[in-house]
Amino acid sequence: PCDVAADLSEILLTEDQISARIAEMCREIERDYAGEELLLVGVLKGAVMVMADLARELTLPITMDWMAVSSYGSSTQSSGVVRILKDLDTALEGRKVLIVEDIIDSGLTLSWLLENLKSRGPASVEVCALLRKPEAATVEVDVRYVGFEIPNAFVVGYGLDYAEKYRNLRGLGILAPHVYEH
Ligand code: PRP
Ligand code: MN
Ligand code: MG
Repeated sequence: PCDVAADLSEILLTEDQISARIAEMCREIERDYAGEELLLVGVLKGAVMVMADLARELTLPITMDWMAVSSYGSSTQSSGVVRILKDLDTALEGRKVLIVEDIIDSGLTLSWLLENLKSRGPASVEVCALLRKPEAATVEVDVRYVGFEIPNAFVVGYGLDYAEKYRNLRGLGILAPHVYEH
């Protein structure tokens, strides 16, 4: 993996801590959806890593689909503007849907996405997010599974980017201010 230690001011979560927590979340999801088939909806691109690990850890029959929505651009701030860049390939009628996200920051992306998917006639829609920043919430979103609550810092790695970089870090770190301050 790339050597970007100088770009991080702190490691928040190691690869092992993340995988242990994902395993716990999967046991909970398996109990809640026992005997059912789940459609995992990953939100590109941040959720790619958590989707890959969650999907392989789950013992339930699952299918995967993906949406790409845009709300941040390359800024460190939430704009609140959500648009669909890529829609689902799958119809949701009668499906049990679990949205898979890397992080809930302001909550704007997810609250918009929840309403959008609920309007398509699924049997249920729930959310699984690896990370949540409680201090950053501008809307409250009903999230069934949360991996970790983290401080309101700019975090990268494990799918999360700054200007599209750092997604391939195996752990989660706080981006050093010198990287984005000029
Ligand atoms: C990030 C993150 C979440 C969203 C959370 O995605 O992956 O999807 O922002 O922010 P919010 O709660 O304030 O709406 P981003 O828009 O950066 O796209 P990306 O997943 O492609 O990085
Ligand atoms: Mn995202
Ligand atoms: Mg991003």
